[in-house]
Amino acid sequence: MKVTIDTSLCSGHARCNATAPEVFDLDESGYALPLADEVPTAHEADARDGAMACPERAITVE
Ligand code: F3S
Repeated sequence: MKVTIDTSLCSGHARCNATAPEVFDLDESGYALPLADEVPTAHEADARDGAMACPERAITVE
């Protein structure tokens, strides 16, 4: 599983990080960054929850 963050949509709400800190990091400006290229199997549900938590729908999970 991979997570992609559309930087044109991310507004720094940080809900992804609050919901799934194992999957989403924040840069120094507060915008989301994936912690790894590939989401560990154990955190796939967290990745989906984090994506759903984003009010901008900036995160794609595939
Ligand atoms: Fe950005 Fe959405 Fe997370 S706006 S910081 S991807 S909750």
